[in-house]
Amino acid sequence: MESKQNRVNFGSKIGAILAAAGSAVGLGNIWRFPYETGNHGGAAFILIYLCCVAFMGLPIMMAEFTVGRRSRANTAGAYKVLAPGTPWRGVGYMGVLAGFLILSYYSVVAGWTLEYTWQSLANGFAGMSSGDYTQFFADFSANPWRSVLWMAVFMFMTHWVIIKGVKEGIEKSSKIMMPMLFIFIVVLAVCSIMLPNSEKGLEFLLKPDFSKVTPSAFLAAMGQAFFSLSLGLGCLSTYASYFSKDANLSKTAMSVGVIDTLVAITAGLIIFPAAFSVGVSPDAGPSLLFITLPNVFQMAFGGVPILAYIFSLMFYVLLALAAFTSTISMHEVVTAFVNEDWKVPRKKAACYVTLFCTVLGVLSALSFGVLADVKIFGLTFFEFLDTITSKVMLPLGAMLVSIFVGWYLDRRIVWDEISNEGSLKVPFFKVYIFILRYFAPIAIALIFIKEMGLW
Ligand code: PHE
Repeated sequence: MESKQNRVNFGSKIGAILAAAGSAVGLGNIWRFPYETGNHGGAAFILIYLCCVAFMGLPIMMAEFTVGRRSRANTAGAYKVLAPGTPWRGVGYMGVLAGFLILSYYSVVAGWTLEYTWQSLANGFAGMSSGDYTQFFADFSANPWRSVLWMAVFMFMTHWVIIKGVKEGIEKSSKIMMPMLFIFIVVLAVCSIMLPNSEKGLEFLLKPDFSKVTPSAFLAAMGQAFFSLSLGLGCLSTYASYFSKDANLSKTAMSVGVIDTLVAITAGLIIFPAAFSVGVSPDAGPSLLFITLPNVFQMAFGGVPILAYIFSLMFYVLLALAAFTSTISMHEVVTAFVNEDWKVPRKKAACYVTLFCTVLGVLSALSFGVLADVKIFGLTFFEFLDTITSKVMLPLGAMLVSIFVGWYLDRRIVWDEISNEGSLKVPFFKVYIFILRYFAPIAIALIFIKEMGLW
């Protein structure tokens, strides 16, 4: 195991922020946030979402940062360092397992973004009728070879970045991909807003409708905030173990939260104006990205085929980039654990993770085709992995890290990390501790109970 002293660090503050923001910005920002916003009262929902990010997401992110940077270890190792001989290490193990499971099914959808990038590049969507898109997606996702192949390609790309290491792989790739993603997303949003009748889409996304602010809107906002900020599995604590001593944890959390939220809102500015401009009502999930939107883009820019071509290509490259920086962070959680806790050299550890995740990924990919009838608790393999991770393991992990830092960890350690040993002013420290001790655990317990269908 690398000792704490010679453990690698991110080379720069901006590199660290972009890596963490890369983990946060992902498919969740694009396929779920806009839809949840439209359905739960537009700007009113955005307001609730912002409160969830500010009062729960950021404090829990800071708690994960504290655990990671203080221990300078992977997420399972972190609890062994900070709470030796206690069951707290179970939280770390659960995080590693969640990272492993999410990576395996997330890569299937990430692989689809490559197929759609490829189709866009070959201009394969031009001239299709709306029914053709549904058929295309059904045929493609059920085809055992193509979806497995793309999933494996995506996994291999992730593997390649991971074996290059923290600085040369994760940090460098984030520094290239995140700015590219920002440029693409802004260009696409501007083009979409300039379409005729786009104002109806803007209205749907942004006009506050307080009648739709129900308790379920609050719960949706909280769940979305956790998934979108990559909280609850130790991704960010693993990244924080590579932060330098003088990184400002609260400022970094703030930057990641702002970037993630801006990307999510801008994704809505791409999707809704285009969809409303051609009179299609948008939905969520894979069908939004892979059935509704390719059709919308062709219809919206159909008069000028080159525009439709460029728009569609840019959109799928954007999705692939967003997914890529997230899969890298999940892979790192597991690789760092295998490397440090099982003392397997990093490259070998990465090979094992890639191999096992690919095997599990094949089962997820096939659950859209040949294995569609194999059900676990009435869910396909893909749905099962999605449900147990995003509805059970992540909220539970987020709640436990909040309790760990709020109640278990010595207050002095928490203060030292947040204030960089007293060198930063932290006027909100008491509020921060209050949130970690009471507010966040109780609020998460509520989402949890609701998601499990117990309420
Ligand atoms: N935050 C990512 C997204 O929005 C998903 C993710 C979850 C990434 C958990 C890492 C860990 O898509």
